[in-house]
Amino acid sequence: MDVLETIKGRRSIRAFRSQRVPAEIVEKLIDAARWAPSAGNIQPWEFIIVRKPEIKRRLAEAALDQTFIEEAPVVIVICANEDRSSLGYGMRGKTLYSIQDTAAAIQNILLTAYSLGLGTCWVGAFREEEARKTLKIPHGVRPVAIVPVGHPAESPPPRDRRPMSQVVHYETF
Ligand SMILES: Cc1cc2nc3c(=O)[nH]c(=O)nc-3n(C[C@H](O)[C@H](O)[C@H](O)COP(=O)(O)O)c2cc1C
Repeated sequence: MDVLETIKGRRSIRAFRSQRVPAEIVEKLIDAARWAPSAGNIQPWEFIIVRKPEIKRRLAEAALDQTFIEEAPVVIVICANEDRSSLGYGMRGKTLYSIQDTAAAIQNILLTAYSLGLGTCWVGAFREEEARKTLKIPHGVRPVAIVPVGHPAESPPPRDRRPMSQVVHYETF
């Protein structure tokens, strides 16, 4: 699939079929994620693969009852290892680069999943402490996104984008 076609065709999917997503496919998603760029090539990302219904249920609860999360056969929680980034770049590494790097990895997951016929949704609205406790995430590592992955059971229309004329600035802001 052409890159632009993939970028423009991807939608957030919030309804999934129960069909399984094999481990090899999940591995492909993570492999794509780890090829994202990162500041100083520090690669501060960590990925938690969740298939157990009980853990998915608790994640959905932590995510303010976004129940579509537990309907997906597999959920990937993407974390930023702030400690790794801060070792290289101090406070800027911890607060900015670790999140930027991890966000790039998340986008790779979404696009690769779409190119393989799978649906995903980047879920950022969740109670961090609850997710941290459920997944036993250590200090120095911050959960950034919960991404349910599965075969889509809906095909929503594209959401509007701000027009080019509004977002592009030439020479100065
Ligand atoms: C940082 C971030 C947080 C998001 N959090 C949620 C969320 O908690 N729940 C949800 O349903 N969608 C969430 N989304 C998905 C957005 O709603 C979606 O990307 C946006 O409406 C554009 O739609 P599209 O992804 O189909 O193009 C999030 C997206 C981003 C990038």
